[in-house]
Amino acid sequence: MLCDDQPMGEQQGRSHRRYDELVAEAVAAPTEGWDFSWFEGRATEARPSWGYATSLAERLAGAEAALDIQTGGGEVLDFALGRALKSPAVTVATEGWPPNAAKATALLRPRGVAVVAAPEDARLPFADDTFDLVSSRHPVGPRWAEIVRVLQPGGRYFAQHVGPRSAYEVVEYFLGPLPAERSSDRHPDRERAAAEAAGLEIVDLRAERLRMEFHDIGAVVHFLRKVIWMVPGFTVEAYEHQLRALHDRIETEGPFRGPQHPPPRRGPQAQRVSAE
Ligand SMILES: C[S@@+](CC[C@H](N)C(=O)[O-])C[C@H]1O[C@@H](n2cnc3c(N)ncnc32)[C@H](O)[C@@H]1O
Repeated sequence: MLCDDQPMGEQQGRSHRRYDELVAEAVAAPTEGWDFSWFEGRATEARPSWGYATSLAERLAGAEAALDIQTGGGEVLDFALGRALKSPAVTVATEGWPPNAAKATALLRPRGVAVVAAPEDARLPFADDTFDLVSSRHPVGPRWAEIVRVLQPGGRYFAQHVGPRSAYEVVEYFLGPLPAERSSDRHPDRERAAAEAAGLEIVDLRAERLRMEFHDIGAVVHFLRKVIWMVPGFTVEAYEHQLRALHDRIETEGPFRGPQHPPPRRGPQAQRVSAE
């Protein structure tokens, strides 16, 4: 189970297994859902200090009608509802990718949550002023006007967003330096401006830079197969030369942290936006 109160995985020392074996294992692993337990012992991603899922549980306990947008496999909402002292009278979640929608439905139905299949770029399938709490962790992109529309006056949006240059070390290893526009995309200042322009008042916004490490090439392959927008069109065949070189580097130098033997860099930035 992944939630923000747990790391992506725990370091258990370097692997010395063969390239073919590690890659085959990663390619065989299912990619649906948003549970990162597969990475246990193979990759680490520090978690933000604020503990999003636990904080969400506190907010759910005070909500009457809650919506979780892009719930993925429902793992985080399930964790938060399990921790909440009281559940909202109504909780619904949206998910746009069919394999995840099915997974989330199975996980969340026992908690009385309806999962609605809704593409992430479509209008939210709910009436205006419906929810007093809207949440989302790592949405592909927040659609502020829609969030404002479905929130009741005085309602809150509570979320954790991925920040700029998320996992850029691994992305730049395969694609080369990112264009400036992609580097500044998702910057907290930009998101603040967009949220305010849509009519929200930001009551709390925090940002942290977090370290991500890959301890074997299988973890890199599984990550890029799972988070498909990082290196668009990624396949093992297309990037075999770079993958083999990276495998050799991990074997001789230790975990992959960055493209050029840097001092440890911090990885993705996450931000929490709580607005009303
Ligand atoms: C980054 S995920 C976050 C899911 C969830 N809120 C969480 O934090 O665990 C956001 C969205 O990406 C989309 N997504 C994830 N994996 C996908 C895939 N392999 N193909 C297409 N979309 C995917 C899903 O629609 C999902 O709701």
